Amino acid sequence: MSAAPHIPVLIDEVLDALAIVPGETHVDGTFGAGGYSRAMAARGARVIAFDRDPDAIREGRDAAEDAGIMLIEGEFSRMEALLAEAGISSVSGVTLDIGVSSMQLDRAGRGFSFQSDGPLDMRMSQSGQSAADFLNEAAEEEIADVLYHYGEEPRSRRVARAIVQARPLSRTGELAAVVRRALGYKPHDKKDPATRTFQAIRIHVNGELDELERGLAAAEAVLEPGGRLAIVTFHSLEDRIVKQFLRRRSGTEGGGSRHLPARAVSAAPTFDKPAKAVRPGAAELARNPRARSATLRSAVRTAAPAQNAQQGGISA
Ligand SMILES: C[S@@+](CC[C@H](N)C(=O)[O-])C[C@H]1O[C@@H](n2cnc3c(N)ncnc32)[C@H](O)[C@@H]1O
Repeated sequence: MSAAPHIPVLIDEVLDALAIVPGETHVDGTFGAGGYSRAMAARGARVIAFDRDPDAIREGRDAAEDAGIMLIEGEFSRMEALLAEAGISSVSGVTLDIGVSSMQLDRAGRGFSFQSDGPLDMRMSQSGQSAADFLNEAAEEEIADVLYHYGEEPRSRRVARAIVQARPLSRTGELAAVVRRALGYKPHDKKDPATRTFQAIRIHVNGELDELERGLAAAEAVLEPGGRLAIVTFHSLEDRIVKQFLRRRSGTEGGGSRHLPARAVSAAPTFDKPAKAVRPGAAELARNPRARSATLRSAVRTAAPAQNAQQGGISA
């Protein structure tokens, strides 16, 4: 089934942050439609790209081959092991463009969209627990927690109760109708209240925040001294994870309170002070409204050894 091609977001800004020198090896952890990968290859990089979606791999294979891109199916959180299998121990750049592609969103059959009816699936990797499995099996309280934490849904309990009462659910259209009824949606309301519920369930089903935290640690492990990290996120939950990771790892998180005991001396910074966050300009937004909430953060790797999760505390 066809879908609008994915328009790469903040591509010029990402390329600026990567400052590719021809011949360098770069990782694109989120291949999607290959927009970033092809732009990196055009600048002379040897590109190793990952995607966890079998459709992205199948549909991207020929174009990747033509551009000399090595395309690998798998999660970017596993990049260290997957690169090792390809005989690569360090790289000059790692880029992640977090979230769903236009192809995933626009194909009703993937179940990501509340705007068209399809099976309640939402799995990027097309394996494991689907959205329907989760919603039909989980306790009401667990559903409410997911909606609250990942969708920032203020009336999460009410929505969760309505979902449990309407079970079993199998279609995105059914779920959207349940949420709208529970929250009193009127067609002229600016934002569809189902937006928050769909985002929350997608993040949960794909373990997206955990993937991001592990992906950042993996990038730290594979980047050579002077290597560049560029991360594009699409909502505040993800951006907070990236911002906090870079602050901790660059030692720029600010001093502790003078009322508290001095903190133990932390490990040497693994990244230089991050660049200022970059957001799309008016011209890009006019061209591509989906870029609306994008934020790019980038930083350069120091020569300090990678910290592990305990030392650096990438989770809260
Ligand atoms: C926003 S799109 C990337 C678009 C790409 N930059 C382009 O220019 O075409 C995100 C892609 O990353 C993939 N993805 C998301 N999380 C992933 C993960 N943890 N590991 C590997 N791929 C992931 C999705 O399947 C999707 O294809």
